[in-house]
Amino acid sequence: DAHKILVLAGDGIGPEVMREVARIVQWLSAHRGLKLEIKEELVGASSLAVHGVPIRDEVIELAKQSDAVFFGSVGDPAWSHVAFDKRPEVAILKLRKELELFANLRPAQLFDALLDASALKPEVVRGLDIMIVRETVGGIYFGEPRGIETLPDGSKKGINTEVYTTSEIERVARVAFDLARKRDNRVCSVEKSNVMESGLLWKEVITDLHKRDYADVQLTHMLADNCAMQLVRDPKQFDVIVTGNLFGDLLSDLASMLTGSLGMLPSATLGVERADGKRNALYEPIHGSAPDIAGKGIANPLAQILSFAMLLRYSLNRSEDAELIEKAVSNVLTSGLRTADIMSDGMARVGTEMMGQSVLRE
Ligand code: NAI
Ligand code: MG
Repeated sequence: DAHKILVLAGDGIGPEVMREVARIVQWLSAHRGLKLEIKEELVGASSLAVHGVPIRDEVIELAKQSDAVFFGSVGDPAWSHVAFDKRPEVAILKLRKELELFANLRPAQLFDALLDASALKPEVVRGLDIMIVRETVGGIYFGEPRGIETLPDGSKKGINTEVYTTSEIERVARVAFDLARKRDNRVCSVEKSNVMESGLLWKEVITDLHKRDYADVQLTHMLADNCAMQLVRDPKQFDVIVTGNLFGDLLSDLASMLTGSLGMLPSATLGVERADGKRNALYEPIHGSAPDIAGKGIANPLAQILSFAMLLRYSLNRSEDAELIEKAVSNVLTSGLRTADIMSDGMARVGTEMMGQSVLRE
């Protein structure tokens, strides 16, 4: 049976880098027996222009019925002055919420050929391959009470509350443990149990779950401030890191810069298991629509291409095809081809299409 994929290219460089993935999909279909039933829809500014909304309800429904959503990026300066619910970015926020995409997977993996792009010393990052799992629908960004209150003396107080329940912690921890089993079998759980009750519960729940169902995986605990330091001092000590929404936001952005360019970084967001036994999932590069370079044919398509590799691995169970793509990307980089964002001395500068074609040839 064909896998149902919803493709949402979005705005700016989204459609440009998506085109390069389309060629790879065609090749996999012709040579590797990949069967996809692909639907394409408008989201973001491109949907606003035609339908007056950043994402239509029908598109959300389609997303819920798909095996995976393959997302480009949304955002357009022309729509940045409008009311919040008319912003292009609402499309991705709505998808995350409606599909209950609670676990964000952010790999930080360094291709040998890009060693010079990292801000850190080569010996610290050579061969780096870590995965950060961030809880995305709970925690302090959503907890109640919240708001800004006026005090009797006329001054104000701003309130946010971190709330985590046993089930919210367990489901994201399961994702992390399951991933670890397919990798180096190690999980580091990160919180601030020294000063936060939600962090204390986080640590307890993960410790219990580990004992019950994942005793074969090595589990360690680390305080979030120490983790930030350790990620820069010696990132290779980690395999899978699992953490809450706030700390995950910061630590995943930090980790992404260990490897250099925004144009290289894929991501996956996994949701709840559905009645049909499948799991909602969305794959996208971490970069945005890059309006400053849109339409110039110079965007790096590798983050979008590597996001498709993640889709193959995690939603379609096609690890071999994923590895084929990752190896092709690695070979192209080793051969010296670079888009502008990862350019360095002595390398050959290419545009979006040439980079995509080169991956395909590999
Ligand atoms: P951005 O990621 O679009 O761009 C930041 C910088 O990195 C720019 O200089 C851009 O040219 C460069 N860059 C990004 N991707 C690149 C690629 N593939 N190849 C070469 N260079 C690349 O972030 P920015 O500028 O903060 O946001 C632009 C728009 O994108 C905004 O409307 C923002 O809200 C939206 N955005 C959307 C996201 C999504 O769809 N999930 C994520 C992040 C931002
Ligand atoms: Mg962030």
